[in-house]
Amino acid sequence: MNQDQKNNTLSSSLFSSKSYDLSGEIIIPGDKSISHRCVILSSLAIGESKITGLLNSSDVNCTINSMKSLGSRIDLNSKDECFISGIGIGSLKQPDTSLDFGNSGTAARLILGLVSTYPIETYFTGDESLSQRPMRRVTEPLTDFGASFKLKDSEFLPIVVKGAEYPIPITHEMQVSSAQVKSAIMLAGLNTPGITTIIEKEKTRDHTETLFKYYGYEINIEEKDGKNFISFEGQKNLNPVKIKVPGDPSSAAYPVVAGLICKNSNIKIKSVLLNPTRDGIYKCLDEMGANILYSNKKNEAGEITYDLEVSSSVLNPIDVPANRAPSMIDDYPILAVAASMANGTSIFRGLSELKVKESDRLSGIYNFLSKNGVDASIEGDNLIINGSTKGPKGGSLIETNLDHRIAMSSIILGMVSDKPIKIDDTETIKTSFPNFIKLMKKLGAKLSV
Ligand code: S3P
Repeated sequence: MNQDQKNNTLSSSLFSSKSYDLSGEIIIPGDKSISHRCVILSSLAIGESKITGLLNSSDVNCTINSMKSLGSRIDLNSKDECFISGIGIGSLKQPDTSLDFGNSGTAARLILGLVSTYPIETYFTGDESLSQRPMRRVTEPLTDFGASFKLKDSEFLPIVVKGAEYPIPITHEMQVSSAQVKSAIMLAGLNTPGITTIIEKEKTRDHTETLFKYYGYEINIEEKDGKNFISFEGQKNLNPVKIKVPGDPSSAAYPVVAGLICKNSNIKIKSVLLNPTRDGIYKCLDEMGANILYSNKKNEAGEITYDLEVSSSVLNPIDVPANRAPSMIDDYPILAVAASMANGTSIFRGLSELKVKESDRLSGIYNFLSKNGVDASIEGDNLIINGSTKGPKGGSLIETNLDHRIAMSSIILGMVSDKPIKIDDTETIKTSFPNFIKLMKKLGAKLSV
């Protein structure tokens, strides 16, 4: 895309300025990972499921539209309720058109897995960001089920998938720590006779496993010799469910960090999912001395949620070990904002996977920090941030490169900077957190277009 084309596709820019006294209570939208999975599994159940609190974002809409093209009936009403008439495992139909996955890696990778064990041919496309993300990590193991794939330059979208007519179950030891790859294999295994087994060296987010159980699908999960073994038999039935999607902990991290670093603040956030495979950022913030109270523990959809109360805090620097990455993989950009306000030097270790997210997030984080006067550096796969409680000078324009998390993190950094920070595109935020600007303003953030 040249600069003119880019300017035409970008929506309005946004400034954030120094903000104090954040207060009030908000409800964070539903978890993105669980929303994608609920749409897919409800579509494969036999009968009608009702999902409340589904994240109504452009990423999840890609999954909804794709599942409709594959034969499911989905109605999302204005009351934030989603009704899905599932067609049963084994009944996906050949779509009439190509499937467009926009910016969503999760939608694309999970559905690549799903269609790979059906005798149909599917064409996968995505936006400029998604079309630069690696896909062979998913298609390679799926080939062992008997599917075949044609990828652009053997790695990227667009991809043509020819699903297996007689899929063969596989045992796969994960080569990258990726819940998307694991879930793609699990969805492929659903329409495969026999036992599919996945072996993880590092545990990644386990929502697919939890939801299998919630939809009444038998699955066996065991830890042996320090590894996680997941296995189940394919071609059984998923039951329809009534389910409430818990609040997204990665989205909640933006107001949480804002509440910690903006002076004289006290905010409350209701019903946030806190699962050990997702809570790395909260562990880090707690270790940094953050004033976060966790109360009102509840069980929703097989997951645990808490209400959070966050108050302004003096943060200590942190050394984040590489093995924490899977439990906070999306949350380094906003943790970097917290570290930039800490009283000393933080190190985030082992960030190689950040280079293949919606943008190269390792350079993206370095870029928005250093352009705004935060002393940061990259050494190999580590990020080093010399924080200061005074707050950075700010004043720059950040190119978000179709990356919602870089956009939101830059906005939060602007709330403690001497001069406002501007982002070039707010549209990208709609992929995961459509009411981010509204909720942040409700808490007292100074944001202007
Ligand atoms: C996700 C897994 C993670 C994460 C993404 C959502 C999921 O990706 O970054 O936002 O829902 O499974 P990887 O599997 O590439 O680590």
